[in-house]
Order: sequence, then structure tokens, then C-alpha cells
Amino acid sequence: MEKYVIKGGRRLEGEVTIAGAKNAALGILAAAILTDDECIIENVPYVEDTKVLLKAIENLGATVKYIDTHTVSICAGTIRDDGYLEVEDEYIRKIRASYYLLGSLLGKYNYAKVALPGGCEIGLRPIDQHIKGFKALGADVDIVDSSVYARAQKLAGNHVYMDVVTVGATINIMLAAVLAEGKTTIENAAKEPHIVDVANFLNSMGANIKGAGTDVIRIRGVQKLKGTEYSIIPDQIEAGTFMAMAAATNGNVLIRNVIPKHLEAISSKLTEMGATVIEYDDAVRVMADGRLKSTQIKTLPYPGFPTDMQPQMAVTLALSQGTSVIIESIFENRFKYVGELARMGAKIRVEGNSAIITGVEQYTGANMVAPDLRAGAALVIAALAATGFSTLDDIKYILRGYENFDGKIRDLGGLIEVVDTDKDVQKFKLRVG
Ligand code: UD1
Repeated sequence: MEKYVIKGGRRLEGEVTIAGAKNAALGILAAAILTDDECIIENVPYVEDTKVLLKAIENLGATVKYIDTHTVSICAGTIRDDGYLEVEDEYIRKIRASYYLLGSLLGKYNYAKVALPGGCEIGLRPIDQHIKGFKALGADVDIVDSSVYARAQKLAGNHVYMDVVTVGATINIMLAAVLAEGKTTIENAAKEPHIVDVANFLNSMGANIKGAGTDVIRIRGVQKLKGTEYSIIPDQIEAGTFMAMAAATNGNVLIRNVIPKHLEAISSKLTEMGATVIEYDDAVRVMADGRLKSTQIKTLPYPGFPTDMQPQMAVTLALSQGTSVIIESIFENRFKYVGELARMGAKIRVEGNSAIITGVEQYTGANMVAPDLRAGAALVIAALAATGFSTLDDIKYILRGYENFDGKIRDLGGLIEVVDTDKDVQKFKLRVG
């Protein structure tokens, strides 16, 4: 099985270009089936999650073509609506975003059957708010044999109040509501940049959505949507991951193709910790020299500190001077990397949803296993900052959300390779010395 082998201890230096936002892409690709016309979507990250979702869209009968690695054409006009559209693909269960097909199929065909979503095991991850929203629009929703069935005679706009701020449910309800009759209001909506991006994409198809990016989204249903060409925003979390990597390795990295505004929560924490963050129009430079300082972080919905950056910041803080505290307030099971990091010498105590981190001066290389996507990326950062060699198993999680992760790190001078066998690990060790 493929794993990374890494030799740490090098300052990462140079430039890295960030791909399109995975979580925006997943909503946008699903949204494209709301019209029978062709949609051309640019800046789609070439990662496992988008590939799997596109496979599922193709399996529904849509015509899906890669125009180039990052440009996808989707034409849902070839989907045959025989009243039995279902997404039961075994792969779709593995990704979280399968649930977006519920919203878009329901919105377009008034019917959907989709396998219950999977994704990283970072908490319970219920979908009650999605279901509440679909029901408010007039759908009957049942869960039978691990699949969600949703059906409506006709969808009609309504007032939906989200009991918790949820990215997934906010997007899903937008998808179901754009073609519903009348007005839908989503209150206590999530405000993440990818919600704005999905809304902009839908509006470019002819939808009428106002207020995305605030906590009240107003949607006036339209009868039909049309094809469009659209370019996805840069990935906030990939950018943040390289920012943390630059800081943890005492590096100097220019991170290109970003929207600095989306990175403010991360930039301000890194600055507080003593790193230098310089913002340009569409790039940020992160530099660090010497040991960083401790700080406190609480994960919150946007514009708060993103939960998807919590593990990467934890590994950086665990090398910083003093004691830091991280409070994880979004997902209850997001400290699974702590045991792995302890093998490298990190001192982190988890109490409920808090991690108390006592900074150590150095990590030493270890053999580790990636517990999920972001924690996997965080352990790579730790290995790059450590002395000696590390290996990381289960990199399939990382490949779900990071495009050419090892290649980009190598371009920054990091010593990392994907290997299959222990023999390959030995070869790498001999080669890099
Ligand atoms: C999305 C992202 C994920 C990110 C998360 C928070 C995708 C594919 N995934 O996940 O990378 O970590 O947003 O930014 O975009 N909740 C409920 N009921 C629901 C839905 C959610 O109680 O019906 C709770 C969740 O358990 C969690 C919180 O709401 O505590 C936020 O979840 P949500 O924003 O929906 O996360 P996801 O859409 O699963």
C-alpha cells in the first residue's frame, strides 16, 4: 500500500500554487446537474473526492468530460429521468459530498435516492438539518438501509432555520430550493467562502440567490437554469496547510493563487505566533525564523478559525514555546492524530474538546498512520519539521483533498516520496542520506 516516506529537518522555501477549492467544487459539480445545458467548470482540483463525485454524476447518465486536468464539462441533458434516479455507488458512500446529489436531484427531478454519506470519521456528522430543510420544501424523506430517499410532488419555497451552522446543509438546501416554487429563506446559514462560490455558480446559471456569505440567504425559485462557464475559487485549506508548513519548518514560502481575505483567521494566528505573513493581491508569503510562540485557538464557523486547519496548527503549536490550548467546537472526534504525533515526541493532552499543548523543541521521525484527511496533512507537516525519517501510511485520505501534495512539497525542497514497499523506503533513505 502506498505511503509517504519523508526526511525532515529542511526549511521549505520557494513558491507553491494552490488548486481550486475542493469543498466548493463538490457543491458546484453537483449543482451542474440542475440544468440540461452544458456547464464548463474551471479550476476543479484533481483530487479523489472530485473524481469520485464526477463518476457518480456520470453514472446517473450525465455526460462528463475532462477538457483538461482542471476543466470539466458536465451536461445533464443526457440523464434519463425514469423516476428512479439513484446514487448507490459503493464509492459515493466514502465521500461526504455525495449528499449534495440529494439536493440537486431532488431540486431537478423531485426524487432522489442517495447512499448515506461517508467522509472522514471526525465526529457523528448527522444530516438532520439537511433533512429538515428538504422537508420544509415539501419533500418526504426516509432513511432505509443506509440510503436516503427524498421525494416531492412539487417543491415549494419556505422558511428554514438551521439549528446549527452547517456548511453542508446550507449548500444542500440552496441546491434543492433554486428551482422550487416561490421564496426560500435560510436563516442561521453558514457563511464559508465556498457557500458564496456555490451561490455565485448557481446565479450564473440563472438562479436568484441573495445574501450568500451572510447568515440569511434568500432564494427566489426560477423555472429553469441554463448552462454556464465558471471558475472555482482557490482552496482556503490547502493554502492554510502550506502556510502552517512554512511556519513549522522555519521556511519562507510564497503561496500563490489565494484570496488573502479567506485566510485572515489563519494569518492572524500565525502572526500572533511570531511568523511573518505578507499579503499580496492573490498570494501570501509566510516566513518564520526560530521558535514560534504559543497561542489559543478555538475552531468556529467562518469567519472564525476553520476546523479543517486545526490539526495543521496543532502540529505547529506543539513545536512552539510555551503552552497552547486548542478548543475544537465543530467536530467531537478531531484529535485522533494526537497519538501519532506523540510518537514524534509531541506533548499534547486531550480533555474533552480541548487539546492542551506543551511545546517541545524538536520532533523525531516516526512511523505513523494518517487518521483522516486534514490530520494526515498535519502529520506530513510534523514529519517535515522533524529530525530524521518518518513514514506515513493510509495516504489515501490525503489524496482525497490535496492535489499533487508530495510534488508541491518537493518543489519547496522537502524530501518526500510516495513508496509502495519497505524496500522503496530503504532506497529513499540511501538516496537522501
Ligand atoms: C463541511 C466540509 C468539511 C468541514 C466542515 C466544517 C465538505 C464536503 N466538508 O463538512 O471539510 O470540516 O464543513 O467547515 O464541504 N451538523 C448537524 N446536523 C446536520 C449537519 C451538520 O448537527 O445536519 C453539525 C455537524 O455535526 C458539525 C457542524 O454541524 O458539528 C458543522 O457541520 P457541517 O458544516 O455540516 O460540516 P460538513 O458539511 O459535514
